[in-house]
Formats: sequence, C-alpha cells, structure tokens
Amino acid sequence: MLIHNVEQLKANNEFAMDVESGLNAKQKHISPKFFYDKNGSKLFEEICAQPEYYLNRTELLILKKSVNEIIRLIGENQISIIELGNGNSTKTRILLEPSISTLKRVCYFPIDVSLKMLESSIRDLIREYANLQVFGLCSDYLSGLIKIDEYMKKHDNIPKRKLILFLGSSIGNFDPEELKNFLYGLRRNLRKEDALLIGFDLEKNKIDLESAYNDKKGVTAKFNLNILSRINRELAGNFKLSTFEHKSFFNIRKHRIEMHLQSKIDQQVIIGSIGRTFYFKKGETIHTENSYKFTENRLKGLVKNAGLEVIKNFTDPEKQYSLILLKKVSNTTKP
Ligand code: AVJ
Repeated sequence: MLIHNVEQLKANNEFAMDVESGLNAKQKHISPKFFYDKNGSKLFEEICAQPEYYLNRTELLILKKSVNEIIRLIGENQISIIELGNGNSTKTRILLEPSISTLKRVCYFPIDVSLKMLESSIRDLIREYANLQVFGLCSDYLSGLIKIDEYMKKHDNIPKRKLILFLGSSIGNFDPEELKNFLYGLRRNLRKEDALLIGFDLEKNKIDLESAYNDKKGVTAKFNLNILSRINRELAGNFKLSTFEHKSFFNIRKHRIEMHLQSKIDQQVIIGSIGRTFYFKKGETIHTENSYKFTENRLKGLVKNAGLEVIKNFTDPEKQYSLILLKKVSNTTKP
C-alpha cells in the first residue's frame, strides 16, 4: 500500500534545474542522486558485484551475522521497520525474515523518491510475506518520517517502536554540514525506545579505497558516464561520451572519494531542454559525487554532537565497514 506520494511530480523539472545550475558553477557539478535512472541503477548493482567494491558485500556479511542480536537489542515483540532508500531489497529481507519469524507483529515502511522502485518492491514483499504489512512512502526521507508518525497516530494497530534503517553507506554522500542536519532530523524523529541502524564506510588505505571506485572492468566508469547519457536522453543534450573520462580519487584532507568526469578536449555542449551551450576546457571536470569515509573518532564525534548514543557497533574483522545501532541520548538530568 502506498500511503504518500509527492515526489514524482517534482522530479523531471528538478533534474533540468540541477544540471543548469551545476554546469554554471565555477567547479561544474551534478548531484549524485541523478545517477539512478533505470540504466544507472542496473550499473550500480553491477558495481556491487565487482571484487574491488567491498562496501555492499561487507555490509551484507555484517548484517547477516548480527541480525539476531539487533532484533534482541531492540527488545520488543512489535516493531515498525522504516527504511530510508529502498534500493537494495536483499538486505531488507535479511532483517525482515527473522523479525517476522520471531516477533508478534512487523510493519515495514520503505521511503524512496523513486515511485517505480517502491511499487515493485512493495508488490514483491507482500507476495512473499503474508503477515507483513508494507506501507510505502514516495517522499524525501525526513518528510517521509513525519508522515509515518502522523500515520501511526491515526492507526493504533501499527507497532509504536521504530527501527529506522539507512544502509548501503548512502550517508557518505552528505557533506559534513548536510550530515549534521540530517542526523539532527533523525534524532528529532526518535523516541527514547526507538533505534537507528546506519551503515558507514570506514576510512582505510588509499589503494583499497581508490580501487573500489576504479574497478578493472570499468563498471564504475560507465556508471559515472551514464549521467551524461541521461542528460542526452532526458534533456536533449549532445554530450559525446568518448570525450569525457571517469576520474576518481581519495581526497585525504576531506576524507572522501571524489568522482569527476573530465573533458579530454576544449569543447562545447548544447543541452536543448535548458536552451543553453556549456563550455569545457581540456582537463576541466564535472564533480559528480563525494563518498565520505569515516574514522572511529569522527564517528564518535558525529554521534555525540547529534545527541545520539551507540547501542552497538557491528563491524567486520578487517574493520572495513561499520553498521552502527544508535538511539537517542536519554536525558537523565532534568532541570
Ligand atoms: C551508493 C553512495 C554508497 O558512494 O560508494 C558506487 C555510490 N559511486 N560507486 C558509494 C557509488 C561509485 C555508492 N553509494
């Protein structure tokens, strides 16, 4: 059942506006959220299957190993699982399955900006799990969470205890300021008994980080370049893909992988829907993604500043990746 849908209406125009302002900037940029059209989503899945891209694989392993403990730590036999970004249903199932079989009641609320993705995953889940109630929200995350609270208030058969999931290291796309605000927003939505499970990619040596974003088969390059094909298709652009090159590197100072598309030549590109020509110097780049990596210390600071505390930090033996179960700091000192 889809209980809320506002995003789809805004979507088309938003792409054109973002591309126009991004390509007008001194350092040209396009938001990574536009990677995921049909083709881009397929390419992302292919990235996850590359040997160099350890992120998804490692998160999956950690989740499998710790799912029973996570459920136990939440400690309630009725639970509403809310997932931010419903891209990877394999991981959702790993959590849903033992929840459904050990708990009395489980409701699942996926929130995603892509209506198509939501509809197909709702359909599949309902077919597979007869006693799972699924309520999809096509919305951005924070307003989706508010809608869910409103829905819960009106329907008292929905479990009140929430587990909010934000998996896949998607949190790495936020810049520090956005990240701070986002965690604040999440905290505001939690009550003291609720929990939050977030996947963070950990900072590690430059070689391993950079090879994860420069796989030998060139899938990440294709994924990056696909954003230009998407502009060609959807915004009547005339980018020649062979004149741009995928670049990604670890920016140590900023603790992030940066992905860029670099023009091999001086050139101009027309984007019909925007009605403008954009100029590229040889070597100039379009910055397409930041993927932040976290040290243990930085994670501690983030969590503390957001008024959250760690229930448990689940990680793999090599400490490549962290799944952190969080809750709201309980106010023990009352004025
Ligand atoms: C989906 C944002 C977690 O940053 O690793 C993969 C996207 N970009 N390869 C990441 C991505 C290039 C991915 N996230």
